[in-house]
Amino acid sequence: MSGANKDILKVAMPKGRIYKQASKLFREAGLPIPSDFDDTRKLIIELPEVGMEFIMAKPVDVPTYVEYGVADIGIVGKDVLMEENKDVYELLDLGIAKCRMSVIGMPDWKPAINPRVATKYPNVASAYFREQGQQVEVIKLNGSIELAPMIGLADRIVDMVETGQTLRENGLVEMESIFGITSRLIANRVSYRMKNDAIQSLCDRLQGTLAARV
Ligand code: PRP
Repeated sequence: MSGANKDILKVAMPKGRIYKQASKLFREAGLPIPSDFDDTRKLIIELPEVGMEFIMAKPVDVPTYVEYGVADIGIVGKDVLMEENKDVYELLDLGIAKCRMSVIGMPDWKPAINPRVATKYPNVASAYFREQGQQVEVIKLNGSIELAPMIGLADRIVDMVETGQTLRENGLVEMESIFGITSRLIANRVSYRMKNDAIQSLCDRLQGTLAARV
């Protein structure tokens, strides 16, 4: 079990591409995260000198850990927040891991009679097409979403575009951007009250660092 110490701030950190940018931001904010943590397979990283503990989570699970309070705060992309719709406080836009959620298709796309849309984000995609007044069948996939229109599983996809490299290399086109994505700092509702000083002071440090970056 982790975190017997109630004064420790437990932070759900997304593994992978957001971690790199988040740890850089934390270091700039004066929180010394040793660089040997960048490639570790450890799942719980203790940082007693700054009163924190990182829980290294799959990005999509970060809001779940925070909602249940096993993490006090977390870092998560707006894409996951929109899809998961968990009961957490969104405290701060960290401005990192910038990308966008888009509708993507083959260049020769034409409206189909029974359109199918593949995505890792079924809630986001369903809400978007409902708002557009378009009836579509949403197919949930877990990765390599771009394959779907290429091999005829779906005629369009809803997915994240960051550099556009995946689209270019697979001959796909971005048809519409739905919303912009950055990573956010979120908090558990009870932790936000019980550990308000620690959470607020971290927010202030991060906000100061972000302001100095612009
Ligand atoms: C994400 C996303 C796109 C790609 C976009 O996939 O689903 O496929 O990154 O990035 P780009 O615009 O810079 O090419 P991820 O790398 O997370 O892998 P996945 O296909 O397994 O979901």
